Amino acid sequence: MERDFLSRYGVYQIYPMSFCDANGDGKGDIPGILSKLDYLQSLGVRVIWFSPLYPSPMWDMGYDIADYYDINPIFGTMADFDLLMEETKRRGMRVIMDLVVNHTSDQHPWFLEALRNPDSKYRDYYIFRKGKGKNGRKPPNNWTSTFFGSAWKEVPEEQGTFYLHLYSEHQPDLNWHNEAVYQEVKKIVEYWMDKGVYGFRCDVISEIYKESLEDGKRGMPGRPTGFEHYIATPGCHRILKRLRKEVIEPRHGVLIGECYGVERDQAAAFLDDELDTLFGFEITDPGIFKKTMASERFRQILMSWQKLECNGNYLENHDQHRAIGKYVREGPFEKEGGKMLIALLCSLKGVPFFFQGQEIGMKDYRHLSLEESHDAVAHFLDGMLKRYWMPKPLRRWFARKYGRDDARCPMPFLPESGHGFTNSSVEPWQKFNELSSRINVALEEKDETSILHFFRRCLRLRQVDDVLSLGNIRFLPSDEEVLLFLRERKGAKRLCVFNLSDKEKPIPSLVLENTTKNLLLSNYLHGKKEESLLPYEFGIYAIK
Ligand code: NOJ
Repeated sequence: MERDFLSRYGVYQIYPMSFCDANGDGKGDIPGILSKLDYLQSLGVRVIWFSPLYPSPMWDMGYDIADYYDINPIFGTMADFDLLMEETKRRGMRVIMDLVVNHTSDQHPWFLEALRNPDSKYRDYYIFRKGKGKNGRKPPNNWTSTFFGSAWKEVPEEQGTFYLHLYSEHQPDLNWHNEAVYQEVKKIVEYWMDKGVYGFRCDVISEIYKESLEDGKRGMPGRPTGFEHYIATPGCHRILKRLRKEVIEPRHGVLIGECYGVERDQAAAFLDDELDTLFGFEITDPGIFKKTMASERFRQILMSWQKLECNGNYLENHDQHRAIGKYVREGPFEKEGGKMLIALLCSLKGVPFFFQGQEIGMKDYRHLSLEESHDAVAHFLDGMLKRYWMPKPLRRWFARKYGRDDARCPMPFLPESGHGFTNSSVEPWQKFNELSSRINVALEEKDETSILHFFRRCLRLRQVDDVLSLGNIRFLPSDEEVLLFLRERKGAKRLCVFNLSDKEKPIPSLVLENTTKNLLLSNYLHGKKEESLLPYEFGIYAIK
């Protein structure tokens, strides 16, 4: 039921720091979001996922939570949040909170107490271990952090004792072997659901349960050492099943899982009485030295993840580069390409996810220097590569590729200064994308052919068309770089064709047989009677 709701309506992600600033401090906030709810409603948005709104020292931009029961003063107050719940409800919208429980902030009172008093019950909320080696100063195992370097930090006041952090040292991992941790998280989930929250996007949920702390295998490219001991473990599945049964299901809520490190074959198990939908990561990775995703690789990955009962289909979020420039080439056909990608998300089986700014075709911010970057990953990576004597230009290239700032710029609503993100002349926390005077909501509202107008039409089509949102999917043979598939439900059919490349491609005969009468949506003005599919052309047809 809830899965169907998500599949039909999709999810729009707001990155609170960068959405809209009402109090003029250059940082987004809840009153700012409130002022844009009508805009979101006009897009057809029914479900909003908020990146973390909780108090946090912001080492990892809120993915380091210091208090699970309050609102970060940067974003406002609990009264603001309650109003947000009321106003979204009034508009028929539902709210998804981020739930970050693989780790807390090192400023969370549990962790502070665990450090202050090794005998306190909070010590066992985290994973403390004695070091190895003659004097016990070596980390307990060889695991590396996803943010580079050892995954262990020695406690400064206790030589020879370490704690585990799969992310930065400011994000100590919780010990999910401890029943008390489960009970704490259960309480947190209940608290927000009692406030009317619909569900949670569960941060790196695939790694919460460390099955053992043995040394990891080395040399698995792109994987932190040790990951085989904690990705998709039986313990993780047990916890999710229990949480779903005890808290989520009785309240008709949803769980969306960020399944970092999970292979496609491991993913299905997460959808069995655990998560409503999930994000895999294969789709985000064009390969180590590549910035753009090859169209054929893109096609293969898309088809493979569609085998899941309910995949989370996304191309952008706060951790990723913008889709235009990554999945479609920048240049003369980028607008058609941007539309094609939106239509693709609206045509696939599963839940479509959109990131703020995607609806206007926003692109990466290209000129941010490392010094201006707020992203921990960019800085850690640069530091690590420096230790290997990598020359600066190459280091910067890697920081660019793996850094996560490019899509985190303030949302441009207007062409002029402040861009409708803020009324103040204060510098925003993160620079505006240099494209904001050209790519913004106001200009696209005026242009009937804009990505924004297209986004509304496309999302609406999915929302009113059960076949497109809930039907089965069947892929048909096609040329490389062309996706051809049927969505089918209760005898009704939609034929979907997507040219994922910037080259012309032969039209599949099944598409040729269909007349413009059957065409529900396309990114080119004509009906399909030409010789070929144009660059990034797509068509969705109602067929018998
Ligand atoms: C995934 C989040 O999306 C990312 O922003 C964060 O840095 C890591 N999880 C760690 O919480």
